[in-house]
Amino acid sequence: MKITINTIAKKKGVEKITSITAYDALFGRIFDGEVDFILVGDSLAHSFGGYHDTLAISFDSMIYHAQAVCRGVRNSLIVGDMSFGSYQDEDMALRNAIRYYKESNVGAVKLEGGCERAGMIKRLVDEGIAVMAHIGLTPQFARGEGGYKIKGKDLKSANKLKEDALAVQEAGAFGVVLEGIKHEVASELTQMLKIPTIGIGSGVECDGQILVWSDAFGFFSEFKPKFVRHFLQGEKLLKDALREYVKAVKDQTFPNDSECY
Ligand code: KIV
Repeated sequence: MKITINTIAKKKGVEKITSITAYDALFGRIFDGEVDFILVGDSLAHSFGGYHDTLAISFDSMIYHAQAVCRGVRNSLIVGDMSFGSYQDEDMALRNAIRYYKESNVGAVKLEGGCERAGMIKRLVDEGIAVMAHIGLTPQFARGEGGYKIKGKDLKSANKLKEDALAVQEAGAFGVVLEGIKHEVASELTQMLKIPTIGIGSGVECDGQILVWSDAFGFFSEFKPKFVRHFLQGEKLLKDALREYVKAVKDQTFPNDSECY
């Protein structure tokens, strides 16, 4: 069944919303229908591109990967991340969000920021673009903040998060990612908002959860943040299988008769 932003909105308070990232048709197809939405995240840059953070990925690359995911996915909603530098002002944000809609089949876009991005979110929503907001630890702004900082640790930070959450809701975002927020504060935000909250490193009380797939399945072993659980030992399993293949080639048990023309 095709999942839309409305399906997701209706799940708030009823059942948990599930989400994972994907960057190509192969994995999009595997995840399709198993989760409510698939994010073509700019996490692509560090999880797959070998960069230290998410900043290097170009908007053209995001479009390329969104197109690939869209070719593999039939049922889950697809959300396309607006990459760093692709939404510097409202006109640019609108131009690029329109590119996403025209050049791929994403059902919504996601951008980072709270109060300061509310006008932009409203403009996109007014033009018919569904927007998921992203507040708390916003990786695109981490260099500017001197690193990845957990949010909501003190009253000032918690109050700013409340203002951000209300601002993006008021602007028309259909949902909001809460990243790296103390779980008590994320819980308060979830209760306060009418729109669903999607947590990453923000505790179980959020309306849903998202993980980067290579983190969730143990393929990114360079660094494991506290909030990540490896649901599969992917790197180990893949390496074992690769070694089996290499061994079979070397000892000439691959290919066998049934694997030849
Ligand atoms: O880029 C990404 O994958 C994200 C999620 C981690 C929320 O923004």
